[in-house]
Amino acid sequence: MRQVFLAFLAALISLPAFSGDKININNGWRFIRGDQYSAHAIHFDDCAWQTVRLPHDWSILGPFSQDEPTLSRGAYLPTGIGWYRKNLNVTKRQLEGKVFVEFEGVYMNSTVWINGQKLGQRPNGYLTFEYDLTPYLKAGENTLAVRVDNSAQPGSRWYTGSGIYRDVNLKVTGKTYVPQWGTYVTTPYVSEAMARVCVETKIANADATKNVTLVSQIIDASGKTVETSTKTVSLPTDSTSLFTQDISLDQPKLWDTKNPNLYTLRTVVSQGRKTLDTYETTFGVRDIRFDPNKGFLLNGKHEIIKGVCLHQDAGPLGVAVPERAFERQIEIMKAMGANAIRTAHNPASPAFLDLCDKHGILVMEESFDEWSSSKAPQVFTTEGGRKTVKLQSYGGLYFDEWHERDLTDMVLRDRNHPSIIMWSIGNEINEIWGPKGAVINRELVKILKKSDTTRYITNGILGPSQANRYGTYADLDLAGYNYRMDNAIKDHYTYPDRVFIGTENRSAVVMLPRGEYIFDQDTYEHKIFEKYPSKDIQKLFNKRMGYAQGERVWKQVKENPFLSGFFIWTGFDYLGETVPYSWPSRSSYFGAVDLVGLPKDGYHFYRAQWKDEPMVHAFPHWNWEGKEGEIIPLTCFTNCDVVEVIVNGKSYGEKATRSTMDLHLNWDIPYTPGELKIIGKNKKGEKLTEQIICTASAPSQIALEADQTVIDADGQDLSYVTVSICDKDGNLVPTASDEINFTVKGQGKIIGVGNGDPTDHGSFQANNRKAFNGYAMVIIQSDGKTGSIKLKATGKGLKSSEIIIQAGKAKRGA
Ligand code: GAL
Repeated sequence: MRQVFLAFLAALISLPAFSGDKININNGWRFIRGDQYSAHAIHFDDCAWQTVRLPHDWSILGPFSQDEPTLSRGAYLPTGIGWYRKNLNVTKRQLEGKVFVEFEGVYMNSTVWINGQKLGQRPNGYLTFEYDLTPYLKAGENTLAVRVDNSAQPGSRWYTGSGIYRDVNLKVTGKTYVPQWGTYVTTPYVSEAMARVCVETKIANADATKNVTLVSQIIDASGKTVETSTKTVSLPTDSTSLFTQDISLDQPKLWDTKNPNLYTLRTVVSQGRKTLDTYETTFGVRDIRFDPNKGFLLNGKHEIIKGVCLHQDAGPLGVAVPERAFERQIEIMKAMGANAIRTAHNPASPAFLDLCDKHGILVMEESFDEWSSSKAPQVFTTEGGRKTVKLQSYGGLYFDEWHERDLTDMVLRDRNHPSIIMWSIGNEINEIWGPKGAVINRELVKILKKSDTTRYITNGILGPSQANRYGTYADLDLAGYNYRMDNAIKDHYTYPDRVFIGTENRSAVVMLPRGEYIFDQDTYEHKIFEKYPSKDIQKLFNKRMGYAQGERVWKQVKENPFLSGFFIWTGFDYLGETVPYSWPSRSSYFGAVDLVGLPKDGYHFYRAQWKDEPMVHAFPHWNWEGKEGEIIPLTCFTNCDVVEVIVNGKSYGEKATRSTMDLHLNWDIPYTPGELKIIGKNKKGEKLTEQIICTASAPSQIALEADQTVIDADGQDLSYVTVSICDKDGNLVPTASDEINFTVKGQGKIIGVGNGDPTDHGSFQANNRKAFNGYAMVIIQSDGKTGSIKLKATGKGLKSSEIIIQAGKAKRGA
């Protein structure tokens, strides 16, 4: 939010002299889709172009089409080429120093020009890069132009979005300054009494030789300076020098998953009384260790890694993700009990990693999904068959030339985040199946270790036997196993010094969307096939709701601490990778929550296993008109000792969680409409919690519930409003699909709508949405002004509903 303020200031006074701060320049860009002749030139006329505010993802605007070359992998959304231009006002005074432009992420293959001068090209769409504008700037107006080329398709195994989809910043400094990613803070010794904080600082000097004072201040969360280290250093002409300082910090407030305490390192470079540059770095004091027998230890204490893999899109918002959307994802995952996130399969947004620091999330940051060879994933065809498509992707096109730079930049950018505990150098890489994999693996480990030796390096490996045979695991700090937990357990005995992590595992979900249930064992295959054509259903659909895999892995992790933990595939549904389905599906089915963040039943499996608060969650819903008297299989996830199910006052008996090897309880109940009461009890039979599911009558009214009723009036903050279709008594109608229209008045606007239906082709940027199995979602954004925002929801034959959200100052805690 600080950046927004700076952006506002920048707009008022054009660029400051030498602030050393980053100035966000997201506002006032011109954009056009399609290639343009000479659009990099200063005098090119861009009047007819659209005005956009970054972050910007043109793919998410759609429409979905089977003809799009992205195919099901890219959500059938458009890609192609796009151009952006922006005017920058620069003063004479600023030209006495240095001006840099930083792009936090452009998907993909961007080329940048200033005043017609080409600055460079960057194929990788997930990394942050900077250009020095100074030599080409003039006082007054300057033109920045960016060409984005995402036309090589199909280019990815998931939805990537297209455009300048993360923030763009300017940095204006004097001639002596701390360059981009110029600090590195490590804590080689950590105890409750004392920590050693080692600081490396780079100082660039584009000036004559000078002596300067380098001050490194450690500031705690309350703003108090707790330690200061001062050094006088000499900077040669036109040079970049590296300095180290070793600071003892008494009684440090340690960073962990419960108390994610953070510190700021303020670096001040000065000459006499004149400050030349200031630079701030957030860091945490924590000790991480993986032990061959005990698993993961954070500050010496054992903690199971309960992780989720997340792709970077935020459903209806695509990849242009406001900070609050990321924060909400993290909150939802934490509420499920997760303490870790794997940034599948690419470097994350800087804002996302800041939030992981703040919320005490353990992060595996991943660099690549492919090495030299592009993948050739399967897509499912409309006829229910499948075909293999060779990707036109980073691996085959750019890895060989760019991997060293890209891997290094990821680490240099992110190595101060306390949340990051491991780096992953790959995911299910093709080469790993043969000896070439071990060679590239070794090279990448070597490259990475040049920039950071304080975190564990892993690799998401699907072929553990080959990785053992070719020596790949031997070169990793932490052996990563995608899915193959049985092999990991065997390998523990063969390689007693090895440390392990389950880099990826199937989540406890069936391949059905939220709230859909098909029980009929004889006909379910046929029924699903009708709706979601695929020949592979039977394999994927385990009997009795398909929880077996997720349960099995969690049991293995609980029983074998040396495994350290695991990351489920995935926390959220994401756009693209519709496997095992094809059109009309356009998003994935793997999430514990759907594309708009509404929990599926599998979410409650993890809540039961990972959280302590007593809970019961039974499913399916209890609206089975026409099935009266037929058996409905009821499943319950719980962390209580005993659960009793009562239907319309009749008990169907108690079941104890200990009495079964499975981590769920089952009842077979003949359907009669009415009330289902699921009671969670302790061993003594005392009631701890209950869930009530009622048979709903016809849809009659709309209910609205906001995740935040007060948001920041900063033009960025969001309120996610869940829309429920209820009957006259207020029960959710779990099969409702009514179309709902939205109007907004006041200081906000709708920036996205959705419903969690992976086959819905309605635009995400609309004022209406059909409910899906009872629910829809509206995303409201502040327009920058203080005041109230009134959202009204109406639907045919339904009592309408209104909700007021205040735009002012939101209260949010970690
Ligand atoms: C994994 C892969 C993921 C995703 C998943 C789908 O093997 O690493 O990216 O494709 O399969 O099941």
